[in-house]
Amino acid sequence: MSIRTNYEKWYSTDDYYWGLEPGDFLEELIRLCPPEAGKKVLDIGCGEGKDAVYMAQKGYDVSAFDLTENGIRKTIKLAETKKLSINAYVDDINTFEIQEQFDIVYSTGTVQYLFEQNKKEFFDKINRITKKNGVVYFNAFVEKPFLELPPDWDLEEKMWKAGELFTFFPDWKVERIDEVIFEDFSGGVPHFHCMDTIICRKMLL
Ligand SMILES: C[S@@+](CC[C@H](N)C(=O)[O-])C[C@H]1O[C@@H](n2cnc3c(N)ncnc32)[C@H](O)[C@@H]1O
Repeated sequence: MSIRTNYEKWYSTDDYYWGLEPGDFLEELIRLCPPEAGKKVLDIGCGEGKDAVYMAQKGYDVSAFDLTENGIRKTIKLAETKKLSINAYVDDINTFEIQEQFDIVYSTGTVQYLFEQNKKEFFDKINRITKKNGVVYFNAFVEKPFLELPPDWDLEEKMWKAGELFTFFPDWKVERIDEVIFEDFSGGVPHFHCMDTIICRKMLL
C-alpha cells in the first residue's frame, strides 16, 4: 500500500472524507458536453468517487483513477450501491498511460501532486487522450503570499504559481477561466485556498 499520500489513511474509514455532493462544475461540464450514448469521461485523482459516480449516473462511460487503494475501493463500492459500473483503478498522475480517448477529462484538487518535471508531459498526454471537441476541467491550488499553507496539506503536494495552469492550453477554446479564494474546513480546521480553474475545449486534432 502506498504511503505517499495521507489520503490512504483519511479514506480508510466508512465515512466519505469529501462527502457525496458532486463537484461544483459538473453541471457546467455536462452542459458543454452532454451525455449522449457512449460518451467517455476520465476522472484523474477521483478520491472516493463522488464525481465519477455522479457522471456515471448521468449516463457517461466513466474511467477514474487515484493513487489510493482505499479511494478506489470506495469508488467501486459507491458505484455498486447505485447499480452502476465504473472502470476505477489505482494509478499515479505522474506516470499513468492511457491509449483511449475521452470526451471529458476532469481533475479536481489533484494536479498539485504532479512533480514539476512531469507537468509538460502530463498536459501533452491530456491533449492526446482528449477527443476533438472534447472538454477538459482542471483546477490548481495557487500560492499567495498572504495565505498560509492549509493544515491538512499532504506529503507530496506543491502549490502552483497563479496563472500557470492556463499556460498549458494556448490552442484550446477557453470556456471558463477564473481564480477564487474560498474558505475550507477539510481536516477540521478552517483555512483559505486560492484556486485557479480552467474549462476548455479541444478544437484541433
Ligand atoms: C483533494 S483530493 C481530491 C479528490 C477528488 N477529486 C474529490 O474532489 O473528491 C486529492 C486526491 O489526489 C489523490 N492523489 C494524491 N497523489 C496522487 C497521485 N500521485 N496520483 C493520483 N492521485 C493522487 C489523493 O489520493 C486524493 O484522492
